[in-house]
Amino acid sequence: MSKAKQIGIGIIGCGNISDAYFNGAKKFEVLNTISCADIEHEKAVAKAEEHGCEAQTVEELLANPKVELVINLTIPAVHAEVSIAALNAGKHVHCEKPLAVSLEDAKKVMDLAAEKGLLVGCAPDTFLGAGLQTSRKLVDDGWIGKVVGGSAFLMSRGPESWHPNPKFFYEVGAGPMFDMGPYYITALVHLLGPVKRVAAVTSKAFEVRTATCEEQFGLPLPVEIPTHYSGTLEFHSGASVNMTISFDVYAHNHKPIELYGTEGSIGVPDPNTFGGPVTLWTAATKEWKEQGFSHPYSDNSRSIGAADMAMTILSDGKHPHKSSGALAYHALEVMHAFEKSSVSGTHTVIESKPEQPAALPLGLIEGRV
Ligand SMILES: NC(=O)c1ccc[n+]([C@@H]2O[C@H](COP(=O)([O-])OP(=O)(O)OC[C@H]3O[C@@H](n4cnc5c(N)ncnc54)[C@H](O)[C@@H]3O)[C@@H](O)[C@H]2O)c1
Repeated sequence: MSKAKQIGIGIIGCGNISDAYFNGAKKFEVLNTISCADIEHEKAVAKAEEHGCEAQTVEELLANPKVELVINLTIPAVHAEVSIAALNAGKHVHCEKPLAVSLEDAKKVMDLAAEKGLLVGCAPDTFLGAGLQTSRKLVDDGWIGKVVGGSAFLMSRGPESWHPNPKFFYEVGAGPMFDMGPYYITALVHLLGPVKRVAAVTSKAFEVRTATCEEQFGLPLPVEIPTHYSGTLEFHSGASVNMTISFDVYAHNHKPIELYGTEGSIGVPDPNTFGGPVTLWTAATKEWKEQGFSHPYSDNSRSIGAADMAMTILSDGKHPHKSSGALAYHALEVMHAFEKSSVSGTHTVIESKPEQPAALPLGLIEGRV
């Protein structure tokens, strides 16, 4: 069998999440990891040794002609800056979420890519996994009729009990919405198409929180941002979804996402995972039944979004790019809309209107996308 065409990738940012990408890239035949870089060079050296690629400085990686696509795994505050440097070096970019902290910076990234004729992609790519693709197939095939509404809940008591350095979670640009919102909003747009407007209330339960993790036990954590976001998303399809994203809640009994249709309901799995369970209730069965997966990739397959983008590059745009920058820009606009609506006391109209990402085809062989 002839060797498949590949796209050379360079990974910038060799922190916590990078192993998932180094390992994921080995799974997809279209990706060839050439080199990695980090502002702390010794981190890049360690990852290069572990995963069998070259360690370079950021400048060397950007000048490396074998690197065609940069995977940007830096911290959110520098996502835009690093993506812009990669685009200026003539590389396509796939970025971890969010695309940028501000909409203005995200727009700069998208405009520069359009000007240069390069692609921008962005996490999360979990919606390309088995759980969310199976949910999408059920919706598209009409198992619950017309989707009227839904609910989405991510509620916890925050990361300060387990994260070794939780202070940044409560600073401007972070918080529950910017950390976890991308998974929920992206999954919903994948299932229902783009959002038309948002009505929301945001609040915070504490002015100062206290770290209870072993590393920083007792450290005060001033809260600069809302920690409880509650709102309604109205979709262009006509469906409306109640969403709460919070770091102020100890316990609840809600499923991550549910969709309600004219013929039944779907229990959609946690969009921060690739697997299930997917459950279906129909007027015919009148009970919740767990569904088998229609698609592969139920294990951690981070980098599937970059592999999908590599296919778009190799096919000259014929293969539809799914975890696109346009989708991530829309998700970022929706995230910002919650606070805008809360402050103004009115609906916030969403200006961007990306295409609903194409569903993955049936019959995919593992390693292909
Ligand atoms: N850790 C997770 O479980 C997780 C899960 C999903 C998504 N993410 C996302 O992945 C991204 C990275 O998260 P992480 O947990 O790996 O963070 P991290 O802090 O562990 O790693 C970020 C790395 O980027 C490097 N870096 C920072 N600025 C840089 C620059 N200008 N140039 C080059 N390197 C630079 C840092 O030195 C660090 O090694 C974030 O956007 C986060 O939202 C993380």
